[in-house]
Amino acid sequence: MTTQLPRQSSDPTDLPAWQALQDHAGEMQALHLRDLIGQPRRYRQFCAETEQFVLDYSRQRMTGKTLELLLDLARDRALEQWVDALFSGAPVNTTENQPALHTALRSRPGDDQPVSEPLHVDGEDVRAVVSKERSRMLRLAARIRAGDYTGVTGAPVTDVVNIGIGGSDLGLVMATEALRPFCTRKIASHFVSNIDGTQLADVLEKLDPSTTLFIICSKSFTTLETRLNAESARAWLLRDLPEEAVGKHFMAVSVNAAAMDAFGIGADNRFMMWDWVGGRYSMWSSIGLILAIAIGPEQFQALLQGACELDEHFRTAAPEDNLPVLLGLVGVWNRNFLGMNSHVVLPYDQRLHRFPAFLQQLEMESLGKGVTRDGKPAGYTTGTVIWGEPGSNAQHSFFQLLHQGTSRFSADFIAPVQASSEYADQHQAGLANMLAQAEALALGQSEDDVPAHKVYPGNHPSSILLFKMLDPRTLGYLVALYEQAVFVRSVIWGVNPFDQWGVELGKTMARGMQQALSSTGEAPGIIEKIKAWRRP
Ligand code: F6P
Repeated sequence: MTTQLPRQSSDPTDLPAWQALQDHAGEMQALHLRDLIGQPRRYRQFCAETEQFVLDYSRQRMTGKTLELLLDLARDRALEQWVDALFSGAPVNTTENQPALHTALRSRPGDDQPVSEPLHVDGEDVRAVVSKERSRMLRLAARIRAGDYTGVTGAPVTDVVNIGIGGSDLGLVMATEALRPFCTRKIASHFVSNIDGTQLADVLEKLDPSTTLFIICSKSFTTLETRLNAESARAWLLRDLPEEAVGKHFMAVSVNAAAMDAFGIGADNRFMMWDWVGGRYSMWSSIGLILAIAIGPEQFQALLQGACELDEHFRTAAPEDNLPVLLGLVGVWNRNFLGMNSHVVLPYDQRLHRFPAFLQQLEMESLGKGVTRDGKPAGYTTGTVIWGEPGSNAQHSFFQLLHQGTSRFSADFIAPVQASSEYADQHQAGLANMLAQAEALALGQSEDDVPAHKVYPGNHPSSILLFKMLDPRTLGYLVALYEQAVFVRSVIWGVNPFDQWGVELGKTMARGMQQALSSTGEAPGIIEKIKAWRRP
């Protein structure tokens, strides 16, 4: 284990493997996926499998040589050493001089005792602190589920409202939707993130303050959206209940103890976050409280267990069999060498309908960087526009552009084999559609056979990610798989995937705009219009 960062040149394009990939990409332009897919052993060669997952990347525009060169590139970028640095708590978040230890949040999830091998950050044993805080959070979740935790009137909780945004919201919404069959029917989960107040209004409209519990999730506790929503929720609660209700009906998860004090969050109702966990990597921490209440402590541990298994696989499997390494490298190939501008994520299970939105933050906030770790402009493309919707809805919406439009994209199809509802035949129809779409995107339909408007150019690369069934363990594995694939790409591109300075400028400017909107004086341009139309 190392706590040093591996040495890495800032520019991967100087490496022989990069240049060889560039030449090879030129050769590959002449090949169509039709030429590759029918080859014997194609599936065997471009398929990686673990006990839990299958990654079929046989419909990528790759040959054995492509794979070999990508693996060379990973080696030359010191991927193995970076993985070691990530897990061992080295300061991989270089602009903030911090480790990124989300993996410690899910290591040994079933064990509440501090583990024998400590992992120190700033003199503190991270594993021991995580384990203690997790047990406290899960005990509270169990009490709430059992009706033992009551509000100020003595009534048990029937509704939990998570107030948070970005990483303090997206993973929780996604997982709660994905794991609906595992959620208790006795307590409903609600999510409020957006600034404009409509989401809050719509949620509160249905609720009874005496049986409602709010969880303020905010690593910083300074995020404007969360603060406004939390203050409005507090005012709503106190319309019917006495001041002491705040201490019973609000919980919080944050690194900011002073702000939790100021809001009136009691010691038993607050959970710590740590600077060494990035917001978008935090659903494994007490930020997951609403999910732990919904699915229960055992299933929450199963979610962590799945993620822990993926981490173990990532750390130990050979690169050519390693799912996150392959997923990451395929992404680099498509982005940098085949010029794919966007990546579409297509879960063939409606329960995963928020997975593309979750991945948007994970990937675009992590990899949307134009400057390398040593502060130089990247002279190559990084990051990818991520978008998507569940199939088969997506087929009846934007697949026309995928099949016959002029945009360049790659795709991931994601599906459990077993149905997530009682309608197994319908799920099978969905799987058939998924396979057909992957095939149609790859093979297309050539000009010889049909008139021009019926031509499908094909040659669109995609992967299929398959798992047995959607449950907490596989969901943990799936999320961790994408997290680690993001890390792989960050290493190739030499960017820091754990900061997000690009979101700050707009926040600062919004403060000025707020002042301009509230001031009585004359305002320029569209601000004047807003002020005029706001008057009754
Ligand atoms: O503005 C982006 C961001 O900082 C995300 O990275 C983060 O997940 C989100 O805001 C919410 O931040 P917090 O948990 O501190 O409220």
